[in-house]
Amino acid sequence: MDTTANRVNVNGVNLACDLHGSGEPILFIHGFPLSGRLWDHVVEPMRDTWRLIIPDLRGMGRSQVTPDASMATYADDLAALLDAIGEQRPAVVVGLSMGGYIAFEFYRRHAERVRALVLADTRAEADTPQKAADRAAMADRVLCEGSAIVAAAMLPALFGSKASADLKHTWKELISNTGPTGTVAALHAMRQRPDSTTTFDDIQVPTLVVVGEDDALTPPADARSMHRGIAGAQLRLIPDAGHMTPVEQPGQFVRALRHFVDAL
Ligand code: MLT
Repeated sequence: MDTTANRVNVNGVNLACDLHGSGEPILFIHGFPLSGRLWDHVVEPMRDTWRLIIPDLRGMGRSQVTPDASMATYADDLAALLDAIGEQRPAVVVGLSMGGYIAFEFYRRHAERVRALVLADTRAEADTPQKAADRAAMADRVLCEGSAIVAAAMLPALFGSKASADLKHTWKELISNTGPTGTVAALHAMRQRPDSTTTFDDIQVPTLVVVGEDDALTPPADARSMHRGIAGAQLRLIPDAGHMTPVEQPGQFVRALRHFVDAL
């Protein structure tokens, strides 16, 4: 099986993207302010039958930083990235949390490129005014104090009670090491994102909604609302997982994903 670490220039930004396997495409979109490492445990069990496309979004991981971003720029980066790696087939699009916000935007802008949607630990609603104001305040602080304050603010709610201290430490470090410019751009992108509940009626592709039973950031109630709103959607609750299901319960996450994509 082939694995390639790629760097592609798209839309004026240099993005890192790992490619594994050679089957039908699955595009994985990580959350805030993380990186493609979120999907590390998906690679070995799925690379035998799927082409796994795992980018780092602009401003995060190994990708180039830009001062501004929006759900539209993230989504258009990913469409251009698919072109740059020669992938024209519709892909299964898997997004976790902010990655889910981007998956909705990707569907609105590039529906023909989407074979199916997997909405993991995410929600469809836009920020409330209070949440948007909190993000703006956090962005101002990050510019002065760095991304470690985001790690400190997120960590208590990021994982379920079964997550190990090592796992929490790994992701605390990863978030803290995300450059402040990329973190700030993503905070503003999230606070300005549109409501995606109005997209439910337009979704014409098979959809799986996945959530950790103990997700405190995008709780199961948000998943149930997407499940109810999107015609034919499937819902999988992952026990003993918080917001980070692919790293907290990788075996169960992969089983849920495989069960869905193998039936497409
Ligand atoms: C994420 O995990 O991407 C964020 O928690 C999403 C958010 O803050 O809304």
